[in-house]
Amino acid sequence: GIERKLADHPKLPKDKTVAVVVLDGWGEASPNQYNCIHAADTPTMDSLKKGVPERWRLVRAHGTAVGLPTDDDMGNSEVGHNALGAGRIYAQGHTRTLWDHNKTETRDGDKGDQNSEKAEALEVAQTQDAKTDFRRSVDEAEEDSEEETDELEAKLVDNALASGKIYEGEGFKYINECFEAGTFHLIGLLSDGGVHSRLDQLQLLLKGACEHGAKRIRVHILTDGRDVLDGTSLGFVQTLENDLVKLREKGVDAQIASGGGRMYVTMDRYENDWNVVKRGWEAHVLGEAPYKFRSAVEAVKKLREETNADDQYLPPFVIVHDNGKPVGPIVDGDAVVTFNFRADRMVMLAKALEYEDFDKFDRVRFPKIHYAGMLQYDGELKLPSHYLVSPPEIERTSGEYLVHNGVRIFACSETVKFGHVTFFWNGNRSGYFNREMEEYVEIPSDSGITFNVQPKMKALEIAEKARDAILCRKFHQVRVNLPNGDMVGHTGDIEATIVACKAADDAVKVILDAIEQVGGIYVVTADHGNAEDMVKRNKRGEPLLDKNGNIQILTSHTLHPVPVAIGGPGLLPGVRFCKDVPDGGLANVAATVMNLHGFEAPSDYEPTLIEVADN
Ligand code: 3PG
Ligand code: CO
Repeated sequence: GIERKLADHPKLPKDKTVAVVVLDGWGEASPNQYNCIHAADTPTMDSLKKGVPERWRLVRAHGTAVGLPTDDDMGNSEVGHNALGAGRIYAQGHTRTLWDHNKTETRDGDKGDQNSEKAEALEVAQTQDAKTDFRRSVDEAEEDSEEETDELEAKLVDNALASGKIYEGEGFKYINECFEAGTFHLIGLLSDGGVHSRLDQLQLLLKGACEHGAKRIRVHILTDGRDVLDGTSLGFVQTLENDLVKLREKGVDAQIASGGGRMYVTMDRYENDWNVVKRGWEAHVLGEAPYKFRSAVEAVKKLREETNADDQYLPPFVIVHDNGKPVGPIVDGDAVVTFNFRADRMVMLAKALEYEDFDKFDRVRFPKIHYAGMLQYDGELKLPSHYLVSPPEIERTSGEYLVHNGVRIFACSETVKFGHVTFFWNGNRSGYFNREMEEYVEIPSDSGITFNVQPKMKALEIAEKARDAILCRKFHQVRVNLPNGDMVGHTGDIEATIVACKAADDAVKVILDAIEQVGGIYVVTADHGNAEDMVKRNKRGEPLLDKNGNIQILTSHTLHPVPVAIGGPGLLPGVRFCKDVPDGGLANVAATVMNLHGFEAPSDYEPTLIEVADN
């Protein structure tokens, strides 16, 4: 096997208990009324910041620091936890889009000062179509595909689409077998958020499928409003509809068939609430939903008005013919592709689509289809068994090394983030490296609610589990994710997010107190920003208004850096952040944690953030 032995750190001892605390969605931003961390009572995190200056710093958690294409790309939990756990930066590609919801600049750069905030906000709403017309040149893509760098999902899909290799793969050929007699269905998140999926990839895949013989196509859409601004789904649906019109002009029978909001329909994660997937199954597969419309544009407009739901919570709907029959249920002989590249919110539907034996809900019908994922979502389960693009290989993660070198690991979060500190942390690998050395504990999340109604979530329970794991002295590393800032921040509810931040801070205190008791060490950090800024801003940093003059709530992540604090009685007095990694990012944390366990990091890891001064 590959050498997994780590060298001893020349100065730092082994066998200390190290708590690694990841505050999800906890960035550092200027204090103002939209900074929920600032507005909240957070004495523990404040004391870390105001404590020993050499033991608190910021690291980059967005853009190229976590392998995203540009520094205009907000961070997300997948790439964040990948970087934290793997200690290296995997490139997500550098040519994604030139325009993004999460920033106010257009591709033309400076728009001048004459534009009022309102005009800018309107432009945000209206440039929906314009910004999706960006295409990478084939030359550029071919060049990319020859690069030797390690790449993550979005980039792998981009390359496969641009080079056409996606159509030569086993997965597409399997799907293609149904094109003659069946319908080709695509199911996924419809936005350019770039976290789970991308509209431009869907557009290319639709075009490519037609060129490869698809004659009847049905698209099943999940509306976003979570990685992009609420209210933008209508524009994405219009863009897709325009594409489908063009396909119809070419003789392909192509339509949107069903949909719903991503948080209420289909895209649950980590088995928190199978009802979400059941609603999706009923709409996409059975063609049944409480709401029926003649078009998806009408569906999104009416459901937003009549049910008052945000994009992410739209109820399930199906598109029907004049006679009320659904236009695109999934039936025997059809092909299905789930076009999300990120696994966490597609793996449950993948199970429902693929498994013969399935007892999570009554599927009513289990059509005989050819199903492929955009990627294989779970390498251990080999699920789905067919896929269009091979998933990235994130090897030799810090967890694997540490376990191999005798470090016992405890990891815990509540359901909605459990896979983040296990699956994503371990390089998108499910399961244990060594069951005897590791224990992963999942606290069940509340299900069937939006987390603004329970903003404390399970923070205290997670902290208590961590405390017990620390005090029992069975583990060297006790690693948790505290989801509050992120999960409540995504709802856009500012009051609730303030409560959420306090709950996370309280939880940190419980863990730090336990570390104090055992003479251990703590590392407190975050995976990306969210709760520290809840309003969309123009490039001068001023809040943007919508057409009604209300501020535009930012439900998504941010571009802000995140804190890293180290401390605890077990930390040698000379340990401090070194000055020579000013651009440090999340990937530097892995080597840092390895040092705190008494080991040198492998030479290809991003450098450690700490040094040991002789005093
Ligand atoms: C989600 O899946 O909830 C969001 O798209 C991204 O959030 P996460 O990256 O923090 O999980
Ligand atoms: Co998030």
